[in-house]
Amino acid sequence: MQNIAMLGSGFIGRFYADSLQGYRSRDKIVSIYSRREESAKKFAQDYNVPFSTTNMEEAIARPEVSIVCISLPNNLHEEAVLLCCKHKKAVMTTKPLGRNAVEAKRMLEAVEKAGIFNGYLEDLVYTPKFLKAYESVKNGALGRILWAKSREAHPGPHSEWFWNIEQAGGGCILDLGCHCVEIARTYIGKDILPVEVMCWADTQVKPIDAEDHAIGLVKYENGAIGQFEVSWTFRGGLDLRDEVMGTEGTIWTNGFLRTGFEMFTSGKGADYVAEKAETNSGWLFPVGDELNELGYNHMFMDMFDSLENGRAPRETFYDGYVVNCVLDAAYRSAKSKLWEPVKLDVWRGKTGVGKDSHLVEHDKDHYLVKEEITHYGAKKLILKEKTSGKIVEKIIE
Ligand SMILES: NC(=O)c1ccc[n+]([C@@H]2O[C@H](COP(=O)([O-])OP(=O)(O)OC[C@H]3O[C@@H](n4cnc5c(N)ncnc54)[C@H](O)[C@@H]3O)[C@@H](O)[C@H]2O)c1
Repeated sequence: MQNIAMLGSGFIGRFYADSLQGYRSRDKIVSIYSRREESAKKFAQDYNVPFSTTNMEEAIARPEVSIVCISLPNNLHEEAVLLCCKHKKAVMTTKPLGRNAVEAKRMLEAVEKAGIFNGYLEDLVYTPKFLKAYESVKNGALGRILWAKSREAHPGPHSEWFWNIEQAGGGCILDLGCHCVEIARTYIGKDILPVEVMCWADTQVKPIDAEDHAIGLVKYENGAIGQFEVSWTFRGGLDLRDEVMGTEGTIWTNGFLRTGFEMFTSGKGADYVAEKAETNSGWLFPVGDELNELGYNHMFMDMFDSLENGRAPRETFYDGYVVNCVLDAAYRSAKSKLWEPVKLDVWRGKTGVGKDSHLVEHDKDHYLVKEEITHYGAKKLILKEKTSGKIVEKIIE
């Protein structure tokens, strides 16, 4: 059983609280910090939290607190993490870990020096669809992973601080790209070094200093490519789609906008539909159990099971740091219009991994290029002669 101090009573703090306490949970939020007293009190009342405060340190330091959950604007993650280190409290923080890799590295070093449990709350690698897809990838159902694409696009975040580049640290690349990079990185292999990034970014619609639309490619040392597509300008709800392709197969997932639940209403009795839905009349695409479909339940289960069993969770501050390093390279590339190296001062995965051989043996003289059954019933083989390099075709009637 965990006693949680929640820092932040806003959008994600409430989603987390719903997940932590909304089912028959043994884990309880025992302390809530919010910037404004009325918000702290309201949260305490809504979630039956015995202690509320506008002093962050007070919320963390209470003796009954066994883990701290950081749900604060990006510019406050570091301050909160350092307080957890000071009071030796286990900590988990929402994404992104830092506004940049320098901040993320300081947080990583601080928790490791303090010797405290650290979890990175990247919910989108804990969705039921992702967990199932990842299991297939791990078991080899897709063969060698060549390309992993993740897209997150919506009409923009809901609080003013996100739109302030100083507080947020960036625009949609940081806010949404952090999810996409970790999804692709997990499919490709978290021990495979991300080497360089090419990124296009622009401010197409919103009157802000940060980017509101971007597309990026992340090259990995084994030759695999990750791709992220992120936008705060997309109309129509929350678009969460992933594609992963390997030598033996493909998986496509649609995480939110099309979950197999379609509904029409004239708007009478209209209510909340789903996160970032833009309308509540006409044809709608509700989500059965948002908390579960967004991965929060499986994420907290992993965090607490890991904490109680003395092991690291699947997502730690180290992962958050690697993601920040990839995104820093994306920002550099968007400016330079060149492939930019990922600068990782701390790397704990493999190095020197080459591209696997892509040659498939057909017989002693040929490699296989392709095999196909035609509409007229013939089996066609396209082969490459090993010695001459010539491409030849064989038809087997
Ligand atoms: N899927 C996800 O994992 C996900 C989704 C949304 C947000 N987030 C992350 O959660 C964090 C908080 O985002 P949010 O959407 O809950 O924001 P929010 O504005 O809704 O809530 C932030 C809360 O932080 C507190 N706060 C303390 N000092 C503050 C200050 N100076 N300015 C504003 N708030 C202050 C307040 O309690 C406020 O309610 C961010 O790091 C964001 O990236 C994660």
